[in-house]
Amino acid sequence: MISKLLSISTLFLLTLFFLPNTACKREPVYFGELPDPTDSTANPTNTHPCSPDSIYFDQQILPLLRSNCAMTGCHDAASAEDGVILDSYNNVRNTGGIKINDPSDSKLYEAITETDLDDRMPPAPQPPLSVEQKALILKWIQQGAQNLQCDVACDTTNIRYSTVIQPLLNTKCVGCHTGSSASAGIVLSNYNDVKNLVDNQKLWGSINHQAGYKPMPYPAGGAKLPQCELDQIRIWIQSGAPNN
Ligand code: HEC
Repeated sequence: MISKLLSISTLFLLTLFFLPNTACKREPVYFGELPDPTDSTANPTNTHPCSPDSIYFDQQILPLLRSNCAMTGCHDAASAEDGVILDSYNNVRNTGGIKINDPSDSKLYEAITETDLDDRMPPAPQPPLSVEQKALILKWIQQGAQNLQCDVACDTTNIRYSTVIQPLLNTKCVGCHTGSSASAGIVLSNYNDVKNLVDNQKLWGSINHQAGYKPMPYPAGGAKLPQCELDQIRIWIQSGAPNN
Protein backbone atom coordinates (compact mmCIF):
# COMPACT_ATOMS: atom_id res chain seq x y z
CA MET A 1 0.00 0.00 0.00
CA ILE A 2 2.76 2.39 1.04
CA SER A 3 4.78 1.60 -2.01
CA LYS A 4 1.71 2.18 -4.16
CA LEU A 5 1.20 5.58 -2.54
CA LEU A 6 4.87 6.35 -3.04
CA SER A 7 4.80 5.50 -6.70
CA ILE A 8 1.66 7.57 -7.22
CA SER A 9 3.22 10.59 -5.54
CA THR A 10 6.46 10.09 -7.51
CA LEU A 11 4.43 10.05 -10.65
CA PHE A 12 2.69 13.25 -9.58
CA LEU A 13 6.01 14.98 -8.83
CA LEU A 14 7.47 13.83 -12.12
CA THR A 15 4.44 15.23 -13.93
CA LEU A 16 4.87 18.54 -12.14
CA PHE A 17 8.52 18.58 -13.10
CA PHE A 18 7.98 17.90 -16.76
CA LEU A 19 4.86 19.91 -17.43
CA PRO A 20 6.38 23.42 -17.37
CA ASN A 21 9.28 22.20 -19.50
CA THR A 22 7.13 20.94 -22.30
CA ALA A 23 5.05 24.11 -22.12
CA CYS A 24 8.12 26.27 -22.73
CA LYS A 25 9.57 24.28 -25.57
CA ARG A 26 9.57 26.18 -28.84
CA GLU A 27 8.39 23.53 -31.18
CA PRO A 28 7.53 24.43 -34.74
CA VAL A 29 3.87 25.36 -34.93
CA TYR A 30 1.80 23.79 -37.65
CA PHE A 31 -1.46 25.05 -39.00
CA GLY A 32 -4.16 22.47 -38.94
CA GLU A 33 -3.75 18.81 -38.19
CA LEU A 34 -0.60 16.85 -38.79
CA PRO A 35 -1.17 14.45 -41.67
CA ASP A 36 -1.84 10.84 -40.91
CA PRO A 37 1.25 9.06 -42.29
CA THR A 38 -0.86 6.04 -43.18
CA ASP A 39 -3.33 8.11 -45.19
CA SER A 40 -2.39 7.49 -48.79
CA THR A 41 -4.84 10.12 -50.03
CA ALA A 42 -2.94 12.94 -48.27
CA ASN A 43 -1.00 15.10 -50.69
CA PRO A 44 2.61 14.44 -49.69
CA THR A 45 4.05 17.47 -51.44
CA ASN A 46 1.87 20.19 -49.94
CA THR A 47 0.52 19.16 -46.59
CA HIS A 48 0.99 22.52 -44.83
CA PRO A 49 0.45 25.19 -47.45
CA CYS A 50 1.97 28.55 -46.59
CA SER A 51 -0.48 31.28 -45.64
CA PRO A 52 0.23 34.65 -47.26
CA ASP A 53 -0.64 36.36 -43.97
CA SER A 54 1.88 34.51 -41.84
CA ILE A 55 5.61 35.07 -41.55
CA TYR A 56 7.72 31.92 -41.73
CA PHE A 57 11.00 32.24 -39.88
CA ASP A 58 13.07 29.75 -41.86
CA GLN A 59 12.00 31.04 -45.25
CA GLN A 60 11.59 34.75 -44.68
CA ILE A 61 13.50 35.90 -41.61
CA LEU A 62 16.52 33.63 -41.16
CA PRO A 63 17.97 34.14 -44.66
CA LEU A 64 17.79 37.91 -44.14
CA LEU A 65 19.57 37.69 -40.80
CA ARG A 66 22.14 35.25 -42.20
CA SER A 67 23.08 37.47 -45.10
CA ASN A 68 22.95 40.79 -43.27
CA CYS A 69 23.94 40.07 -39.68
CA ALA A 70 25.24 36.58 -38.89
CA MET A 71 28.56 37.02 -40.69
CA THR A 72 32.07 36.42 -39.40
CA GLY A 73 33.08 39.27 -37.15
CA CYS A 74 29.45 40.23 -36.53
CA HIS A 75 26.63 38.08 -35.21
CA ASP A 76 27.65 34.53 -36.04
CA ALA A 77 28.07 32.18 -33.07
CA ALA A 78 31.85 32.60 -32.95
CA SER A 79 31.88 36.40 -32.99
CA ALA A 80 28.65 37.06 -31.03
CA GLU A 81 29.17 40.83 -31.07
CA ASP A 82 27.40 42.40 -28.11
CA GLY A 83 26.21 38.93 -27.11
CA VAL A 84 23.87 38.83 -30.09
CA ILE A 85 23.83 35.69 -32.27
CA LEU A 86 21.50 35.70 -35.26
CA ASP A 87 22.19 32.39 -36.97
CA SER A 88 19.25 30.24 -35.81
CA TYR A 89 15.75 30.53 -34.40
CA ASN A 90 16.76 29.75 -30.82
CA ASN A 91 19.72 32.11 -30.86
CA VAL A 92 17.62 34.93 -32.30
CA ARG A 93 14.96 34.38 -29.64
CA ASN A 94 17.50 34.12 -26.84
CA THR A 95 19.87 36.94 -27.78
CA GLY A 96 17.94 39.29 -30.08
CA GLY A 97 16.13 41.14 -27.31
CA ILE A 98 12.76 40.20 -28.81
CA LYS A 99 9.85 41.76 -26.94
CA ILE A 100 6.62 40.14 -28.00
CA ASN A 101 4.59 42.53 -25.84
CA ASP A 102 6.28 45.59 -27.30
CA PRO A 103 7.55 44.50 -30.73
CA SER A 104 8.97 47.83 -31.92
CA ASP A 105 10.99 48.08 -28.70
CA SER A 106 12.81 44.82 -29.52
CA LYS A 107 16.58 45.25 -29.66
CA LEU A 108 16.71 43.56 -33.07
CA TYR A 109 14.13 45.92 -34.55
CA GLU A 110 15.60 49.01 -32.89
CA ALA A 111 19.03 48.21 -34.31
CA ILE A 112 17.82 47.96 -37.91
CA THR A 113 15.70 51.12 -37.66
CA GLU A 114 18.20 53.25 -35.70
CA THR A 115 18.60 56.67 -37.31
CA ASP A 116 22.00 57.34 -35.69
CA LEU A 117 24.36 55.91 -38.32
CA ASP A 118 26.94 54.98 -35.66
CA ASP A 119 24.49 52.59 -34.07
CA ARG A 120 22.50 51.37 -37.07
CA MET A 121 22.67 47.72 -38.08
CA PRO A 122 24.01 46.55 -40.39
CA PRO A 123 26.72 49.19 -39.91
CA ALA A 124 27.95 51.36 -42.79
CA PRO A 125 29.27 50.86 -45.41
CA GLN A 126 26.68 48.10 -45.62
CA PRO A 127 23.40 49.69 -46.68
CA PRO A 128 20.41 49.50 -44.31
CA LEU A 129 17.73 46.85 -44.74
CA SER A 130 14.99 47.87 -47.14
CA VAL A 131 11.69 49.29 -45.89
CA GLU A 132 9.99 46.00 -46.79
CA GLN A 133 12.58 43.93 -44.95
CA LYS A 134 12.27 46.01 -41.78
CA ALA A 135 8.47 45.76 -41.95
CA LEU A 136 8.71 41.99 -42.37
CA ILE A 137 10.85 41.61 -39.25
CA LEU A 138 8.45 43.81 -37.25
CA LYS A 139 5.46 41.82 -38.48
CA TRP A 140 7.20 38.57 -37.50
CA ILE A 141 7.65 39.85 -33.93
CA GLN A 142 4.08 41.18 -33.85
CA GLN A 143 2.87 37.72 -34.80
CA GLY A 144 4.65 36.34 -31.74
CA ALA A 145 8.14 35.75 -33.19
CA GLN A 146 7.15 32.16 -33.90
CA ASN A 147 8.90 29.41 -35.77
CA LEU A 148 6.05 28.56 -38.12
CA GLN A 149 6.60 25.89 -40.74
CA CYS A 150 4.88 25.45 -44.07
CA ASP A 151 5.46 23.65 -47.32
CA VAL A 152 6.25 26.04 -50.12
CA ALA A 153 4.31 25.20 -53.24
CA CYS A 154 7.03 25.38 -55.86
CA ASP A 155 5.94 27.52 -58.78
CA THR A 156 8.25 26.98 -61.73
CA THR A 157 6.02 28.71 -64.24
CA ASN A 158 6.10 32.39 -65.07
CA ILE A 159 9.49 33.06 -63.55
CA ARG A 160 10.37 36.71 -63.92
CA TYR A 161 13.46 38.53 -62.80
CA SER A 162 11.41 41.19 -61.02
CA THR A 163 8.93 38.92 -59.23
CA VAL A 164 10.97 35.78 -58.47
CA ILE A 165 14.71 36.08 -59.05
CA GLN A 166 15.56 39.48 -57.58
CA PRO A 167 13.37 38.98 -54.46
CA LEU A 168 15.07 35.61 -53.93
CA LEU A 169 18.54 37.15 -54.25
CA ASN A 170 17.50 40.05 -52.00
CA THR A 171 16.53 37.63 -49.25
CA LYS A 172 19.37 35.14 -49.55
CA CYS A 173 22.38 36.89 -51.04
CA VAL A 174 22.26 40.67 -51.33
CA GLY A 175 23.10 41.35 -47.68
CA CYS A 176 26.65 40.13 -48.41
CA HIS A 177 26.70 41.14 -52.06
CA THR A 178 25.91 44.81 -52.42
CA GLY A 179 27.59 48.19 -52.34
CA SER A 180 31.25 49.01 -51.91
CA SER A 181 31.76 46.32 -49.27
CA ALA A 182 30.28 43.49 -51.36
CA SER A 183 31.90 40.11 -50.60
CA ALA A 184 34.44 39.11 -53.25
CA GLY A 185 33.41 42.23 -55.19
CA ILE A 186 30.31 40.34 -56.34
CA VAL A 187 27.21 42.57 -56.58
CA LEU A 188 23.78 40.95 -56.84
CA SER A 189 21.52 43.93 -56.23
CA ASN A 190 20.96 44.94 -59.85
CA TYR A 191 20.14 43.18 -63.10
CA ASN A 192 23.28 44.04 -65.07
CA ASP A 193 25.65 42.64 -62.46
CA VAL A 194 23.52 39.53 -62.02
CA LYS A 195 23.41 39.02 -65.81
CA ASN A 196 27.21 39.22 -66.00
CA LEU A 197 27.45 36.49 -63.36
CA VAL A 198 25.03 34.37 -65.37
CA ASP A 199 27.14 34.85 -68.49
CA ASN A 200 30.45 34.00 -66.79
CA GLN A 201 28.81 30.92 -65.17
CA LYS A 202 29.65 32.07 -61.65
CA LEU A 203 26.06 32.43 -60.46
CA TRP A 204 25.02 28.89 -61.37
CA GLY A 205 28.43 27.40 -60.53
CA SER A 206 28.37 28.82 -57.01
CA ILE A 207 24.76 28.01 -56.06
CA ASN A 208 24.98 24.57 -57.64
CA HIS A 209 28.20 23.92 -55.66
CA GLN A 210 30.13 23.04 -58.80
CA ALA A 211 33.84 22.29 -58.68
CA GLY A 212 35.92 25.42 -59.23
CA TYR A 213 33.37 27.80 -57.70
CA LYS A 214 32.92 29.03 -54.15
CA PRO A 215 29.80 27.28 -52.82
CA MET A 216 26.98 29.73 -52.01
CA PRO A 217 25.19 30.77 -49.91
CA TYR A 218 28.11 31.40 -47.59
CA PRO A 219 29.59 30.07 -45.30
CA ALA A 220 31.04 27.08 -47.13
CA GLY A 221 29.81 23.76 -45.80
CA GLY A 222 26.25 25.04 -45.53
CA ALA A 223 23.27 23.69 -47.41
CA LYS A 224 22.47 24.58 -51.00
CA LEU A 225 19.44 26.74 -51.70
CA PRO A 226 16.20 24.74 -51.56
CA GLN A 227 15.63 22.65 -54.71
CA CYS A 228 12.67 24.81 -55.70
CA GLU A 229 14.80 27.95 -55.79
CA LEU A 230 17.59 26.22 -57.70
CA ASP A 231 15.01 25.06 -60.25
CA GLN A 232 13.58 28.58 -60.56
CA ILE A 233 17.02 30.12 -61.15
CA ARG A 234 18.00 27.37 -63.61
CA ILE A 235 14.79 27.80 -65.61
CA TRP A 236 15.28 31.58 -65.71
CA ILE A 237 18.90 31.19 -66.86
CA GLN A 238 17.88 28.63 -69.50
CA SER A 239 15.31 31.04 -70.87
CA GLY A 240 18.08 33.58 -71.47
CA ALA A 241 18.07 35.32 -68.06
CA PRO A 242 15.73 38.09 -69.27
CA ASN A 243 15.25 41.40 -67.44
CA ASN A 244 11.49 40.92 -67.17
C1 HEC B 1 27.03 35.60 -45.42
C2 HEC B 1 27.57 36.24 -46.60
C3 HEC B 1 27.25 35.68 -47.96
C4 HEC B 1 26.02 35.27 -48.44
C5 HEC B 1 24.69 35.18 -47.71
C6 HEC B 1 26.23 34.93 -49.82
N1 HEC B 1 27.54 35.12 -50.16
FE1 HEC B 1 28.36 34.85 -51.99
N2 HEC B 1 30.21 35.20 -51.26
C7 HEC B 1 30.49 35.54 -49.94
C8 HEC B 1 31.93 35.53 -49.73
C9 HEC B 1 32.64 35.82 -48.42
C10 HEC B 1 32.51 35.17 -50.98
C11 HEC B 1 33.98 34.92 -51.28
C12 HEC B 1 34.23 33.49 -50.84
C13 HEC B 1 35.66 33.08 -50.90
O1 HEC B 1 36.45 33.75 -51.57
O2 HEC B 1 35.96 32.03 -50.29
C14 HEC B 1 31.40 35.01 -51.92
C15 HEC B 1 31.55 34.68 -53.27
C16 HEC B 1 30.50 34.58 -54.17
C17 HEC B 1 30.63 34.39 -55.59
C18 HEC B 1 31.93 34.20 -56.36
C19 HEC B 1 32.10 32.70 -56.54
C20 HEC B 1 33.35 32.33 -57.25
O3 HEC B 1 33.62 31.13 -57.34
O4 HEC B 1 34.05 33.22 -57.71
C21 HEC B 1 29.38 34.35 -56.13
C22 HEC B 1 28.99 34.18 -57.58
C23 HEC B 1 28.46 34.49 -55.03
N3 HEC B 1 29.16 34.65 -53.86
C24 HEC B 1 27.09 34.45 -55.15
C25 HEC B 1 26.20 34.36 -54.08
C26 HEC B 1 24.80 34.06 -54.21
C27 HEC B 1 24.08 33.82 -55.52
C28 HEC B 1 24.29 34.05 -52.95
C29 HEC B 1 22.87 33.76 -52.52
C30 HEC B 1 22.34 32.49 -52.90
C31 HEC B 1 25.38 34.36 -52.03
N4 HEC B 1 26.52 34.53 -52.76
C32 HEC B 1 25.22 34.47 -50.66
C33 HEC B 1 29.56 35.85 -48.96
C34 HEC B 1 28.21 35.57 -49.06
